[in-house]
Amino acid sequence: MSTATTLVAMTQPEFLAFVEAVVPAYAADKVASGQWREAEALARSRQELDELLPQGLATPGQHLYTLRDAASGDAVGRLWIAEQVRAGSKVAYVYDVEIAVAHRRKGHAMRAFEALEAEARALGFEGLALHVFGHNRGAQALYEKLGYRATNIHMFKDIAPAKP
Ligand SMILES: CC(C)(COP(=O)(O)OP(=O)(O)OC[C@H]1O[C@@H](n2cnc3c(N)ncnc32)[C@H](O)[C@@H]1OP(=O)(O)O)[C@@H](O)C(=O)NCCC(=O)NCCS
Repeated sequence: MSTATTLVAMTQPEFLAFVEAVVPAYAADKVASGQWREAEALARSRQELDELLPQGLATPGQHLYTLRDAASGDAVGRLWIAEQVRAGSKVAYVYDVEIAVAHRRKGHAMRAFEALEAEARALGFEGLALHVFGHNRGAQALYEKLGYRATNIHMFKDIAPAKP
């Protein structure tokens, strides 16, 4: 069991790998949640990312990290936060967090979010906000364990067409 997971500023090669991974992952989540059609999902995902990160790693107000196991030095995942204003307070919005499959359920996400709290405080943020898809029960369990509370819940029900 590792003892620490650290946040290290993402490098340019890591950023290029991040873009190639996050575009299809976000597209798949949008399809799974019923918000986008499969045919349009990849293009929309890439467009949203381009709009959020027009200058890549140098985009003002955006902070991207590689997560490292402090003991081994191995890269175990990634984390992306963005500066937002919420009720007049500067908060960090978590756009993306991912732990590599081989490193999951070892406490890396828990420790990364604990490290993120210290990092966010140092950057002058007063809170952390995030969105989680309704189908992502594992992430919801993680955030509940970390003390996050739900602020918005979107719901949907399929209704069959009326019978003739
Ligand atoms: C969600 C994710 C970041 C969790 O990372 P992780 O390092 O495996 O999480 P941790 O080991 O720190 O787990 C801490 C706790 O969260 C909960 N949890 C994490 N993954 C879970 C899962 N798949 N199912 C149920 N509970 C889960 C558990 O309570 C866990 O404690 P336990 O292992 O003692 O039971 C990881 O599964 C992931 O990268 N998923 C794909 C990307 C994603 O969904 N990101 C979140 C977007 S909102």
